[in-house]
Order: sequence, then C-alpha cells, then structure tokens
Amino acid sequence: MALNQHTSLTLILIIAIVAGAAAHSSFSDDNPIRQVVSEGLHDFETSVLRVVGNTRHALRFARFAHRYGKSYETTDEMKRRFSIFSESLEMIRSHNKKKLPYTLGVNRFADLTWEEFSKEKLGAAQNCSATLKGSHKLTDVVLPKKKDWREEGIVSPVKNQGSCGSCWTFSTTGALEAAYTQAFGKGISLSEQQLVDCAQSFNNYGCNGGLPSQAFEYIKYNGGLETEAAYPYTGKDGKCKFSSENVGVQVLDSVNITLGAEDELKHAVGIVRPVSVAFQVIQSFRLYEGGVFTSDSCGSTPMDVNHAVLAVGYGVENGIPYWLIKNSWGADWGLDGYFKMELGKNMCGVATCASYPIVGA
Ligand SMILES: *[C@@H]1O[C@H](CO)[C@@H](O)[C@H](O)[C@H]1NC(C)=O
Ligand SMILES: *[C@@H]1O[C@H](CO)[C@@H](O)[C@H](O)[C@H]1NC(C)=O
Repeated sequence: MALNQHTSLTLILIIAIVAGAAAHSSFSDDNPIRQVVSEGLHDFETSVLRVVGNTRHALRFARFAHRYGKSYETTDEMKRRFSIFSESLEMIRSHNKKKLPYTLGVNRFADLTWEEFSKEKLGAAQNCSATLKGSHKLTDVVLPKKKDWREEGIVSPVKNQGSCGSCWTFSTTGALEAAYTQAFGKGISLSEQQLVDCAQSFNNYGCNGGLPSQAFEYIKYNGGLETEAAYPYTGKDGKCKFSSENVGVQVLDSVNITLGAEDELKHAVGIVRPVSVAFQVIQSFRLYEGGVFTSDSCGSTPMDVNHAVLAVGYGVENGIPYWLIKNSWGADWGLDGYFKMELGKNMCGVATCASYPIVGA
C-alpha cells in the first residue's frame, strides 16, 4: 500500500472539493489542490469517482478498479459493480472483526457475485471415489515438522487460469513441473491448454472441470504433455492440436492418496513431492487474504470438491496445523498466490481426491 489511511481520507475531502470545483471549471494549472489530486489519483480513478460518488468505499473502489485494470462498459455496469464491491467490503469487515485464524481482504474478485465467481472459476463436482483405496505406501520415517517445497526450488511460479474452470489442468502442470525439476534439476513450464483441449476421453471436461488423477492417466496413455511455449494457454475450450515433437514430460505412473487419508497426504507432501489436491471452495474463500483457512460449512465428500490445487508443504501457525497450497488465481491473490488450509480434519475435502505423478523425460 503506497498510501496510508490518512492520505486516503485527506484525498476524499480534496476530491469532494475538486468535484465541486470542476463542475464550474474554475481550475488553473498551478492550482495546488489539483496537483495533490493528480499525484495521488490516476485519471481513471477520478473518472470512476465521478460515477460512484465521493465516499470512502467509492475511493477504495476506484483504486481497486485501477489496480486490477477493470473496465466497465456503461456507467450502470460500474454502479452495479460498485454495489457488489461495497457488499464485499462489508463482508470483509464483519469477518475480520471475528478474529478467526484467517482474514479476508479485497482482491480482483471483489466486484463479482458468488454466482459469477463460481461459474468462472470452479469446476462441476466430480465423483473421484475411485481412490477408495489408494496406492501410496506409508513408511516408518520421521516426517519433517514443517515442509515448504518452494525452499527446495522445485515449485514453478504461480499461474492464472483466467475465466475457465481449468483449475485441474493447473494443478496437474504444477505437480508435473515440480516432479520434473526434482527429477532432472531444471525448470519447465507445461501446457494446460493441451489438457483442456485433448483429455476428454479420460473424463475431463476442459473449462467445465476435470481431475488431476485423470489428467495424469491421459498424459501417460497419450505419450506426454507439451511445453507451455509449444501449446500456450488460451483459457477457452479448443480443438486438440497435440504434436508429439513438442512433448516436455512423460508420466510413467501416478499415485492416488486413499480418500480422506491425511496421514498419507502428509507423508507424501513431507518426503516425496508436491501433491495435487482438490477441495470445496465456499463463498468466504474467494476473498481469502492470509492466515489458516478453516470452516465448518464446507463439505469433504467426492461430490463436494470443486477446485483442484497443489499442496506444496505444511506447517503450524499460532498452534493450528496447516497445508501450504499453491492456487492458480494469479500471484496477487491470497499469500502471493498461495493459501493455508487447516490440516487434520480433512478440511473441505483436501485429502479426498489427492494424487501425484511419477515422471520421465
Ligand atoms: C461415485 O462413484 C462411486 C464408485 O464408482 C459410486 O458407488 C457412487 O454411487 C458415485 N456417487 C455419485 C453421487 O455419483
Ligand atoms: C486414481 O484415481 C483416478 C480417479 O480419480 C483413476 O481414474 C485412476 O485410475 C487412479 N490411478 C491409479 C494409479 O490407481
């Protein structure tokens, strides 16, 4: 935050004055008030304020719209988005007053309704109970107390799925990129779009959802996954254009975690590598800002989970054990694109549909 609360409040007053003055167009270029405003606010923000008013919420909305490059086609649309944004601010305020282990904050989704958000981002529920008996083998080792695979340099940068329910493809590439770097000592970025376009015969549905475990199966039988550069992301369903010359990774096999077995998941994340997991995103998760997410209103059955992500570690914060998880909503969401989810209660189904790949070059 470049501006503190004080500056913001001062600005509101100035804007109110400027708005009044501008109506009479009585400015000269060396007007000191105007200079303060043009230093603190972009033209775009000022134009937003002209539509939605001069309140504190309006100023936050103007800054939000500018920061995330929002463009609203009509003033009615802008007013509607401002009203949704104001509701989000209220939700954030009342949530953060409760002093729960996690906080909410404004992010790029603050002007969307829950219906719009879930349509854009979340896959349809998938029945993944084929993992009733997984194939991960527990061993006797003592697990590290905390783990963060980013420190080992094998976790690739956070990506952004855009407006397509393709989370499962990002969970898949995230797991494969980590496995590849772990196995071969070099970075790689792999194609989500190939999975969106080509993996239908393994029960995946492009922008309407799918499962990492089924994506691993597809890649294994397809003979590989192309690199991101060779088959770039468009965020839309398209025709399959697979070409075996551009394959970046092979899946030799994959391992499913037994449904709900967090001990297996912790063992795998602790000593093997990052693991693809799915869970149920509920309303409050959309505006997650930091801390350990916990809820008693999300479900944990195979039919509840609606979002796939990548568990890259675990730890304990303020006495609460958590999973450290990489999301695919951009690096400006949550904790630099990551979040923490309570560990130990199969929270929101985090261990319900988990799997990881074994790769070859
Ligand atoms: C999910 O799959 C399992 C095993 O294939 C099946 O027994 C169960 O009825 C399915 N549940 C739903 C809700 O489709
Ligand atoms: C893992 O589970 C998926 C369903 O989620 C299934 O299609 C796949 O065959 C399983 N893989 C293994 C290696 O058992």
